[in-house]
Amino acid sequence: MASRESSVTNGDSSASISPYDCIFEGCQLPVCLRSETMDEEEWPMAEIISKKCDSNGQWRFYVHYNSYNKRLDEWVTADKLDIDHIQLPRKESKSQTSTAAAALIKNTSRAVSPDVTISGASSPLPSSGETVISSSRRSSVALGRKRKNENDNSSEPVGGESSPAQLPPQTGSMHRPIGTHASDDVVTRMKNIEMLELGRHRIKPWYFSPYPQELTTEPVIYLCEFCLKYMKSLTCLARHRTKCNIFHPPGNEIYRKDTISFFEIDGRKNKAYSQNLCLLAKLFLDHKTLYYDTDPFLFYIMTEYDEHGFHIVGYFSKEKESSEDYNVACILTLPCYQRKGYGKLLIEFSYELSKIEGKTGSPEKPLSDLGLLSYRSYWTQTLLEVLINMKNQEDETIPFVTINELCEQTSIRKDDVTSTLQYHNLIHYYKGQYVISLSNEILEHHERSMAKRKIRIDPKCIQWTPKDWSRRGKW
Ligand code: ACO
Ligand code: ZN
Repeated sequence: MASRESSVTNGDSSASISPYDCIFEGCQLPVCLRSETMDEEEWPMAEIISKKCDSNGQWRFYVHYNSYNKRLDEWVTADKLDIDHIQLPRKESKSQTSTAAAALIKNTSRAVSPDVTISGASSPLPSSGETVISSSRRSSVALGRKRKNENDNSSEPVGGESSPAQLPPQTGSMHRPIGTHASDDVVTRMKNIEMLELGRHRIKPWYFSPYPQELTTEPVIYLCEFCLKYMKSLTCLARHRTKCNIFHPPGNEIYRKDTISFFEIDGRKNKAYSQNLCLLAKLFLDHKTLYYDTDPFLFYIMTEYDEHGFHIVGYFSKEKESSEDYNVACILTLPCYQRKGYGKLLIEFSYELSKIEGKTGSPEKPLSDLGLLSYRSYWTQTLLEVLINMKNQEDETIPFVTINELCEQTSIRKDDVTSTLQYHNLIHYYKGQYVISLSNEILEHHERSMAKRKIRIDPKCIQWTPKDWSRRGKW
């Protein structure tokens, strides 16, 4: 693959003639990609989102690798571009979205009878089948939601240091709302915060979040790890900490076991915290729209305790009233804590709350690529746990179970139960009824996975009574 050295030494970034005039927004070309997890460099096709010339005359191009998630988008120098294979933008290519999640979404609507039998017979598992998330629409809801009138700007950010007038566009959506200008789209498609310091962690953001403009030029922004207020310097943070005396998130601690706690926060009562949390979360959530009205949401913050306080690990939000029975709106494990089982702990907690409510629930769709992996893994492990327990209890006979019973025991919604069973090819139609068969392979895989799942939610440690929000005049 050809690569080109940048021989440009034009120090004037405002010069009207650039040697890279032929490379502009919307062009596609192979770009050298070498991520931390890759041994060798690759040259996938990428789209030019923007370009700039820095004070040294070095041209940089912001690229999106077409078949990769946007969190890999980055500024690259000209030598990483294979200019020989450039393709000019086609008109329709502007509207294309190419997230990994979108590529995974497929509609399947195979009906499954509610009555099934579990048998010990083996089947070729697990299959490499496809996902059965049934919706590919992009969510317009999430971190906070605008109510009733979408154009109502009455809810304003109160948590940070800036007024809303200083903020970039107030939707953090990655798709362009009707009537907005193309340049807004370019702004929100690019990461705008270089680095984040939160307690003892430095975290590299994945996506755009509408932090005030003046913070976007700082090499690092600093967040108070307890109230999540954002600041542009360590000095500001130190000054802030002399006034901010909290060592845990606001709200009620509704769970504590060992070092793990959960705090419930009402988006109406703790608006500043909720808005700061949403701004932070947006840095890692691509497919959700950010609005400033957090009133309709509850936020469940998971913390880890040490002698310095209760440190935020992740959270999920939940609508006070969900017409579609969603039990999670957004879910996030901060990157410094990811892939350690905390995501599944958050998911488990959300289903424990649903069990207390006596409801089934489901996460709001569409899921992100990582959201889908985590939920599918949780659903699989939870259903297998129930099925294996049933089988162990009834050694001689083949146990019978209905899909509804599985839903009741787990609080997982019916479509998620059936899609999980289908995904792993566990359910078959046999002699007039549905049969779930668990192969040795899947049983062994499950045993290994459960051995790794060290931290679990202990339902006895939850101190929480659900509120009936529909009976309240106001959230
Ligand atoms: N690559 C491959 N597999 C992964 C990855 C990854 N980067 N991250 C998680 N997984 C898998 C894990 O292997 C695990 O499965 P396994 O136990 O079967 O091996 C499963 O996902 C869960 O892993 P956890 O460690 O419990 O989850 P984690 O703490 O990493 O959090 C989460 C998962 C919350 C999705 C996290 O990746 C995140 O915050 N991502 C950014 C925000 C996001 O996408 N949220 C979901 C949006 S959808 C919604 O909000 C409803
Ligand atoms: Zn603070």
